[in-house]
Amino acid sequence: MSAVAYVNGTILGEREAMVSVFDHGFVFGEGVYEVLRTYGRQPFLFEPHVRRLRESAARIALDVPFTDEALLDRVRATLAAAPDLEEAYIRIVLTRGVGEFSYDPHSCASPTLVIIVKALGVTAPSAYEQGVEIRLVGVTRNHPQSLNPRIKSNNLLNNALAMQEAIRHGAFEALMKNYRGEICECSQSNFFIVKDGVATTPPIEAGLLAGITRAFVFDLGLETDIPVREGLLREDDVWQADEAFITSTTREIVPVVRVSGRVIGPGSPGPITRRLMEVYRACAARLVSAGAAAH
Ligand code: PDD
Repeated sequence: MSAVAYVNGTILGEREAMVSVFDHGFVFGEGVYEVLRTYGRQPFLFEPHVRRLRESAARIALDVPFTDEALLDRVRATLAAAPDLEEAYIRIVLTRGVGEFSYDPHSCASPTLVIIVKALGVTAPSAYEQGVEIRLVGVTRNHPQSLNPRIKSNNLLNNALAMQEAIRHGAFEALMKNYRGEICECSQSNFFIVKDGVATTPPIEAGLLAGITRAFVFDLGLETDIPVREGLLREDDVWQADEAFITSTTREIVPVVRVSGRVIGPGSPGPITRRLMEVYRACAARLVSAGAAAH
């Protein structure tokens, strides 16, 4: 791995970048993060990502003592320190900082800001061409009144445990239900089905992360006249779907052709999914060339 990281004002190589063992991000998992990617080396959709970072931070009473411009400047400076990367994965991590071992949010004087820039991991072309298998796992998505999945927090054990189950079954992603038994989201992505030409994804109220790519798919719906809706999904809706796909910043739109060994639709990426994938890439390229990618 070749990476650079901004750590509280200094940009360092991957071997030098460190945070204190007393940081609450390390000892308590007390922090929030965002994952962005670049297109044409420009951070994509920076504004919605930073808005979500602020919302996550507010939900854990964590100050973000930086303006959006100051954060973007730091992201750009970190990217500039990795000139060899064609496209980058950018992880912005903001933790409570260093302080006494207390859950009192005032126990730390200032937050720790880390920005990691590394090569964007490539998803195998076969995933996009042939689709992937995901696993409906037994791990339930966090109850929103326990640890709200809307908080993109460094507490990722729920996600990691779900993904461990998927990995044991050789699946690409883990699909979780919520505490009510409804289909919710995946460990690192949002989930959609397509039925009778309509793309449906569970509502935020199902207890999931408001994905930036998920929101972008709603915009693509307007662009393509493909109806994209929020709707409660149950297990049977998955089995009866014509198509399914997952969305995330780093992977864009990935067709799902099997869930827990059961074939979805014809078992190959469907026309609606393929159209959305195509328009996604065209829109991203257009935004980049218009210089509007950060917005
Ligand atoms: N994952 N749901 C969960 C639980 C996620 O962690 C993510 C993002 C998403 C998709 O959100 P977005 O479209 O904003 O990337 C949904 C990122 C990529 C990660 O943690 O690496």
